[in-house]
Amino acid sequence: MCGIVGYIGKRRAAPLLLKGLRRLEYRGYDSAGMAVIDGTLILRKDRGKIEQVDNRHNFEELDGIMGIAHTRWATHGEPNQKNAHPHIDCTGDVAIVHNGIIENYMTLRELLAREGHSLTTDTDSEIIAHLIEKFYTGDLLGSVRKALMQVQGTYGLAIVHKNHDEIVVARNGSPLIIGVRGDETFTASDASAILEHTKKMIYLEDGEVASLRPGRVMVRDLHDKEMKKNHETIGWDLAEIEKAGFKHFMLKEIFEQSESIKNVMRGRLGKKIKLSIKGDIKGCGRVVIVACGTSWHAALIGRYLIEKIAKIPTEVDCSSEFRYRNPLVGPGDLVVFISQSGETADTLAALREAKKKGAKTMGIINVVGSTIARESETGIYIHAGPEIGVASTKAYTNQILALMLLALDLMQSKDGDVDEKMISEIKSLPGKIESVLQEDKRIHAIAREVADHNNFLYLGRGINYPTALEGALKLKEISYIHAEGYPAAEMKHGPIALIDENMPVVFIANRGKGYDKIISNMEEVKARRGKIIAIATEGDNEIKRLADWVIYVPRTADELTPLVNVIPLQLLAYHVADIKELDVDKPRNLAKSVTVE
Ligand code: G6P
Repeated sequence: MCGIVGYIGKRRAAPLLLKGLRRLEYRGYDSAGMAVIDGTLILRKDRGKIEQVDNRHNFEELDGIMGIAHTRWATHGEPNQKNAHPHIDCTGDVAIVHNGIIENYMTLRELLAREGHSLTTDTDSEIIAHLIEKFYTGDLLGSVRKALMQVQGTYGLAIVHKNHDEIVVARNGSPLIIGVRGDETFTASDASAILEHTKKMIYLEDGEVASLRPGRVMVRDLHDKEMKKNHETIGWDLAEIEKAGFKHFMLKEIFEQSESIKNVMRGRLGKKIKLSIKGDIKGCGRVVIVACGTSWHAALIGRYLIEKIAKIPTEVDCSSEFRYRNPLVGPGDLVVFISQSGETADTLAALREAKKKGAKTMGIINVVGSTIARESETGIYIHAGPEIGVASTKAYTNQILALMLLALDLMQSKDGDVDEKMISEIKSLPGKIESVLQEDKRIHAIAREVADHNNFLYLGRGINYPTALEGALKLKEISYIHAEGYPAAEMKHGPIALIDENMPVVFIANRGKGYDKIISNMEEVKARRGKIIAIATEGDNEIKRLADWVIYVPRTADELTPLVNVIPLQLLAYHVADIKELDVDKPRNLAKSVTVE
């Protein structure tokens, strides 16, 4: 989704802004632009990839030591040059970049037009530049505060004015981070854009505005009250957000899983589970898990784990459904929010709804310091490291293991003993994931044989039904092939009508509970000449009789099978998309962090 970068200091701003924009590319966008102050305000923007816009408008040649830049992901108005950010006011003195959605923009637009402002774009964002112009009397920060008092909706904003040596930033519901190093100040919607310059960050809260000058930051609220802010230090390295020789970030992140999974366990696994959960979860009578996308699939696995291990009734909901259905949650309930980015708009709104109703809230989050992490009462960081590929991989496996630890912790809090065998099974996961990754070449070969099909079905049972959903999601996200995940037994209630020799069916078929039933489902597919790819337990030779291709995974506890099973499905999706020469890391229409409803 949209990205913001800003710089004020002593170096030429344009090359720094351009590099920052490139670091935000992974979020998904359709246009890019920049405004630099160099005596006057210089504006360049257009539709297209950053590379194409730069070729057309030569950002690099711009002088000036302060500026703001943006990648736009269209919500209001089609992607074209005029709708790209920055947006300017009537005088051309003010430029703004905006993430989020202004909900009352139609009313404000009409009002501004009546007052004589000339609005030239189809966006909601442009009105902010005109509101600032309306209230401007020489104090930029003051006019931004007054403008924002008129606005309903969400924003992360950066603003420059041709007569001011400052960048003004503001936040409401859309992340904004400030970084200071010496006499230089940076701002961005996402830490990865400025991480190479500084790791010391200030996180703006909703309702805060700030004036950024070289090496100095002053934060106030909308009523002009000064706010005291602390610096927080980000633990990620630049190397972690680069490709390290892999063709795509997604492939690198798939391969990192044997290492990244260790970070969820570190310091938390022993005779007892140590999660440093704030407050008491002992008395919790019900768990509700809320999330979107891949995180929602992890939530579905979490339900199996918590009900089976901790014996606490658990429900799962999509964030967008939860927040609007007036959910029956309150004191005594633990509501868990899973989000890689910690910024997903629907999940954040769901968190606020649960808090309002008095439930205890917990975040299972990757990005440290993100909004959901900060607003949850307690939480578990999954420590997967930066995930750049839009399709989530390593965050998913870490989320599942974090849920496993939560299930064990909840069981422990009811005076249960953690099974030592389970602990050693968990500890053996990195090695098992590594051995599945060794199957990459073979999975690539299978991908070659199936890449030209238009439909896929993924079937699993029990704790691996969500694995089927996730396998199908991975394939459709990046290869644009239609794929559906189903509980295997539901096949007979519909999908079986689709099966013929053109329909590859991926079965999650580990030995253990439900195996015989899965084999019967495979027989039914075989009888209709469907092609079968089976994810099976090492040593299961019998399955070769039914499956056209078998990918073996090591044996592990039933509860942990989703962690080894998903790896071949991620690789299969990756190779199919790569064979089709698609933009694996930045699939069309998708965004890494969905900060609008
Ligand atoms: C987007 C991403 C998905 C992600 C989902 C939820 O749709 O493309 O990969 O699973 O958002 O994101 P979150 O950051 O809340 O886990």
